Amino acid sequence: MGELSRVYLSVHTPRYCTYEAAFAGKLAHPDFRAVRDGLVAQGRDVSDARPDVIVINSCHLITTFPTVVDGTPRHRGVLTAQEAPELIHGVAYDFPGDWELGSALIERGRAGGLQCVLADDIHYPLDYGTVMPLVCYLDRSQSIPVVPISVCLAADLRESFAWGRIIADAVVAGGRRAAFVASGSVSHKLVRGPEKWPSPADQELDRRFARMLADGEYEKLWAWLPEYAEAAEPEMGGRHLAMMLGALLGAQRKFAATVHAYGPSSGSGNYVISLAAR
Ligand SMILES: [Fe+2]
Repeated sequence: MGELSRVYLSVHTPRYCTYEAAFAGKLAHPDFRAVRDGLVAQGRDVSDARPDVIVINSCHLITTFPTVVDGTPRHRGVLTAQEAPELIHGVAYDFPGDWELGSALIERGRAGGLQCVLADDIHYPLDYGTVMPLVCYLDRSQSIPVVPISVCLAADLRESFAWGRIIADAVVAGGRRAAFVASGSVSHKLVRGPEKWPSPADQELDRRFARMLADGEYEKLWAWLPEYAEAAEPEMGGRHLAMMLGALLGAQRKFAATVHAYGPSSGSGNYVISLAAR
């Protein structure tokens, strides 16, 4: 029987890449260690949960008008990150996809009046926000099928939230034990200086966000999200957080939270949180 068994808030900032670099002492600052260790712990959780499929919403898989769901049966390529070629270069990825689930998401999106497109193309390029957490930390064996879904600029928080619900419904209908990953920062007021933290006020907002998430107050958090997004300016306007909340509320159950870490990257706040269905 299908279920959304895990929901992850994860991190893709280049400083935590690659796994080998992170462990070869190449992290520029000791403040990065907590998040790196949190990502390793989150990878352990994925390996314990062993989901049938991972649906991942990365803040760097960006589309303008439609939401793109990548249903390519096999994702294969070599990634050099456009904005950080010195940190993320030549990362080979080769992992299965799930065309059937990707198509089901599109069918449900269209039925709900949402503009969306299915990608089914070995050349469809994946971004570092998708590849980095998966390949470096969450599924290093690259054996779990993955369905990437884009962050869409024309979609507001409500539409992003609707996609989360669609994901929760589609995995149940499709008989998948699935995990959802939101790959992106919380507060995201970027400045030069990789080790810079968010302001104390933004850290407080991030902590409040994480507390409500960990306490299972998904409805309240969803109601607060526009205000939080206005104040803390999360990555991509918080669309990935809206999708995550849609998935949690769509699953219609509570999840037990493990807050692995919170840390900085160039002024942004980054949480590593694992949520396991009770
Ligand atoms: Fe990012």
